[in-house]
Amino acid sequence: MDSVLPHDVPTGPPAGLPDPATLASLANAFFSALPGNAPQVGGAPDVAATLPFTAPVTSEISNPAPAGSPLAGPGGAGTGVPGAALPQGQVPGGNLLPSAPTHVLSLGNRAPALAPHGVAQNGLPDSAVTVAPALDPRFGGAALGVPEAHGAQRPSASGAAPASPYYFLGETAQARTSTVASPDIVVPGWNEVSAQSLGLPGVDQPLAEQRFPYDRPAASQAAPNVAPAQHTGGSHYFLNLNEGSQFPGHTSTTTDSVPHAGPSAHPPFDVNAIRRDFPILQERVNGRQLVWFDNAATTHKPQAVIDRLAYFYAHENSNIHRAAHALAGRATDAYEAARSKVQRFIGAASPEEIIFVRGTTEAINLVAKTWGVKHVGEGDEIIVSHLEHHANIVPWQQLAAQTGAKLRVIPVDDSGQVLLDEYRRLLNDRTKIVSVTQVSNALGTVVPVKEIVELAHRAGAKALVDGAQSVSHMRVDVQALDADFFVFSGHKVFGPTGIGVVYGKRAILEDMPPWQGGGNMIADVTFERTVFQPPPNRFEAGTGNIADAVGLGAAIDYVQRVGIENIARYEHDLLAYATSVLQPVPGVRLIGTARDKASVLSFVLKGYETEEVGQALNEEGIAVRSGHHCAQPILRRFGVEATVRPSLAFYNTCDEVDALVSVVRRLSSRR
Ligand code: ALA
Repeated sequence: MDSVLPHDVPTGPPAGLPDPATLASLANAFFSALPGNAPQVGGAPDVAATLPFTAPVTSEISNPAPAGSPLAGPGGAGTGVPGAALPQGQVPGGNLLPSAPTHVLSLGNRAPALAPHGVAQNGLPDSAVTVAPALDPRFGGAALGVPEAHGAQRPSASGAAPASPYYFLGETAQARTSTVASPDIVVPGWNEVSAQSLGLPGVDQPLAEQRFPYDRPAASQAAPNVAPAQHTGGSHYFLNLNEGSQFPGHTSTTTDSVPHAGPSAHPPFDVNAIRRDFPILQERVNGRQLVWFDNAATTHKPQAVIDRLAYFYAHENSNIHRAAHALAGRATDAYEAARSKVQRFIGAASPEEIIFVRGTTEAINLVAKTWGVKHVGEGDEIIVSHLEHHANIVPWQQLAAQTGAKLRVIPVDDSGQVLLDEYRRLLNDRTKIVSVTQVSNALGTVVPVKEIVELAHRAGAKALVDGAQSVSHMRVDVQALDADFFVFSGHKVFGPTGIGVVYGKRAILEDMPPWQGGGNMIADVTFERTVFQPPPNRFEAGTGNIADAVGLGAAIDYVQRVGIENIARYEHDLLAYATSVLQPVPGVRLIGTARDKASVLSFVLKGYETEEVGQALNEEGIAVRSGHHCAQPILRRFGVEATVRPSLAFYNTCDEVDALVSVVRRLSSRR
């Protein structure tokens, strides 16, 4: 099983390095000898020289990142933090030592974790890069002030510098005053694109003929440093289904099973600049650069989000809403600013309609256990679709069992699209709520939720839209959808785990009883009775996930700087390309071929268990999910218990798709 782990399991220090116990005693001896002064910059080199393990570490860390990587410091010596050079007098690796002798005990305890292990192909001990910034706050400030290093964080094509190195500061004021999303950044310069596709190994037909348009400059983009015109066509596959794909060389088979993009104007989107914003994409797995095709399970985080979380804990950390001190004010402002960002991101009418929860699962549970318990009774009906994730089935099943209501299911056709006529037949005056996903996590089907909501309303029912798999791929406007509830998870939209959102129309939330009771959600408590706060606080009992809400706000800022339409358009073309090269591989059966799809390419391969395919891909550093994807009913509808599920994000590339297809093709040729 080791081969499926994302990192090599450390079994001990590399040859020539001391074992953890020796390392601990060396570290303890060093810190015991200090008179109580923290080592200063300039002191570290001597210290490092006394430790036998620093020689190999420093020699490897002196050029830890691949050429051109943002992880390489400007001085050529990497700190592991984009744009952060080692201060003068500091030796690379010196920052592996804690700054203060108060760490003596914990250093001893942590010694094994400091021992380099699992050396990556770039020669960098992976633990060293991971721990260095965290152990040495001396680089913290510099590390946080490097937004210029990130493609999507460039303030404008004109190159105007941000006013503050803390590019996310001022967000509170902005959140309070601005109701307009920040304009999309034009990311100019095909001169920045270095990756050129080499074609798919083993395929005779030159793929260059049918490549992805982003792999090479369009005529309008050929001039370096000239910002291309903003794409003005309003055609997105999920809005306008009848336009042809811009994908050259597209075959009719694939046009039937993938989304359709607008006309052929290429968007101002530089995937290589985007990729530089995501440090984890430099990670190596089994000797290969990581290819992350498990975006439906979780997405990676741009440096802006990582920095924002670090800044929160370094400068703002406090509980919220509860104290007169300065940090409580900062934390409260940051948290409420994040709420406003979510509101604008999904088009809600006010921040009071945004409730922070742990994620989509908790969000649906909240609605089922508050609104549901109040409004659903015996003989009533709840409608879900056959596509749903277990999180949008089980809470309703539980509600039905508790109240005597009935769960009814909208069937899908053989492509995996819901059958609207069947849905119409299910609706009646006993229907109390319709709860459907906007994008299927297992098949990628984009569901016509606007029509579904409208039909639910005509029947007098409420409608919940599960946006867990949609918000990172397409523009969502809850008011245009007229959804009564809309829910999503932060970690699927490049934000932290453990934070998610319930949007509810204000009047509906005001009529809902609280779910959990405790602090934060009350206006007044006596032993006789409690007066609750209005929404959203009524639904946020206890200390919430403050930092990660703030991190989600930063993720939304990031997505908006790139431009969700740019993301949608790029991903559409990537999915079309991926479908066109995966589908023809002998033995591949795509599960889910709806005309309107986003991100997901579920498939099975004849002669192989899905785990075998997943494992073979992992051996090449390619991460996919294989299994039932917490959506067993829909997989069984297609006669399978599991699929292999590559799922795309806007930082994925055509070359990565080729790498995946190459493995599948190799497996296919063996059986
Ligand atoms: N819902 C997540 C997935 O689809 C976990 O993988």
